[in-house]
Amino acid sequence: MNIRSIDEMPLAGKRVFMRVDFNVPLSADGKVADDHRLQAALPSIRYSLEQGARLVLASHMGRPRGKKVAELSLAPACQQLDKLLGQPVKLAPDCIGAEVEQLVSSLAGGEVLLLENLRFHPGEEANDPQFARSLARLADVYVNDAFAVSHRAHASTVGITEFVSSCGAGFLLKKELEYFERTMENPQRPVAAVLGGAKVSTKLPVLRRFAERVDRLIIGGALANTFLKSQGADLGDSRVETQLLAEAEQVLHLARQRGVQVYLPVDFVIARELTAGTATRVVPAAQVPPGWSAFDVGPESRKLFQEALAGARTIIWNGPLGAFETAGFEGGTMAMAASVAASDAVSVVGGGDTDLALHMAGLVQEVSYVSTGGGAFLELFQGKVLPGVAALESCR
Ligand code: 3PG
Repeated sequence: MNIRSIDEMPLAGKRVFMRVDFNVPLSADGKVADDHRLQAALPSIRYSLEQGARLVLASHMGRPRGKKVAELSLAPACQQLDKLLGQPVKLAPDCIGAEVEQLVSSLAGGEVLLLENLRFHPGEEANDPQFARSLARLADVYVNDAFAVSHRAHASTVGITEFVSSCGAGFLLKKELEYFERTMENPQRPVAAVLGGAKVSTKLPVLRRFAERVDRLIIGGALANTFLKSQGADLGDSRVETQLLAEAEQVLHLARQRGVQVYLPVDFVIARELTAGTATRVVPAAQVPPGWSAFDVGPESRKLFQEALAGARTIIWNGPLGAFETAGFEGGTMAMAASVAASDAVSVVGGGDTDLALHMAGLVQEVSYVSTGGGAFLELFQGKVLPGVAALESCR
C-alpha cells in the first residue's frame, strides 16, 4: 500500500491535524466507560508530541446529525485523554472558525488541542468541500489514525486530504491494516473465521468473502438460525431472517464448492424469553419446539467449534455466539473466547460486542489483536477499499 507513515513525515513545529476516533461509550454519569479507542491512539499522539508537533486532534462522537448536542461533547474524552497522556489537553469550543484558528496558532510545539465534535456541523458527514477547507486551515500536515471511521467518506477522513499538502497514516491505522494483511490478504493457513451476531443482513458480504477465502467457517449467534433454517431445521420461535434464506444457502453452496469446512451449531440453549435466570433447556439444533427460542449455542456445539479451531494458524472472529450479555446465555461466547485465547494462531477480533465479550472473559491480552473497528472492520474484511485509506493513497 502506497501510504506515507507518520514516522516518515517531518512534524517538528508543524500544525499536525490528526483524525482520531474518540467515539467512545459514556456511562450514566457522563464519563468515558471504555477507553480502548483512546488508548489505541496514544502511540501516534505521544510520537507527534515528542517530535515537537503542534497537535490538533479531531473526532466525532455519536450521531448528533449536524447540530450541537451537549451530551455528545468530546469533553469526557478530553478529560480521560488528559489523564492517560499525563499532560494538559485543552478542548476547543468548536472545530472550525476564527476562535479555533487562533487557539491552534497559539499552540507551541509539544502541545495538544482537541477540537469539539466534528459532527456538530452538517458539512462533516456531507463531505462538504467548504467545511473540509475550514478544517484544512488548521493543518500543515494531515494524519489519519481513525481506522474505525475510515469507512465513512466524510470531510475529516476524505475531503480534507484535497486541501493539505502532506498526508499520512498514524500507527493505529497502520496496525489495523497490517493485521488485515496478515489474516485475510496473506495469511498462514489454515484460516478459521468465526462469525456470530444477530443479523445475516449486516454480515452477508463478509460471509461471502469468507466463503471464498478461508478454510474453515464457524457460524454462530442468531445469524446461524437463518443458515439452519435454509437446511430445513425446526427453530421454534427463534429469530430467522426468512427473506435471506436463499442467500444463506448460496453462501453454504459457495463454501462447499471451494472445499471450505462449514460448522453450524448442533445444539442450542433455548428459553421462552430472553431474561436473566429464566428456565433453559438444551436441545438439538434442528429441534427447537414452538414457543421456545435459541439464545446460545449448546455444549456440543462449543466442543465442535473448539475442535474446528484446532491447528488453525490464523483466526478471525467477529460477533458473539449467543446473547452473552444476559446471564445464562454467555456460555457459547465465553467458550469461544477461551478457545481463541488458547490457540497459537495469529488471531484478530473485531466488533464492539466481541471486544466486550473478550473483556468479560478477561482474555483481551491473549489474542494477537483486537480491532478498534466495528463497521470499518466488516467493510475491510468484506474486501471494500475504505475511503479514508484510499484518500491517503492519492495524497502522498
Ligand atoms: C464506530 O463507532 O463504528 C465509528 O466511530 C463510526 O461511527 P458511525 O457508525 O456513527 O459512523
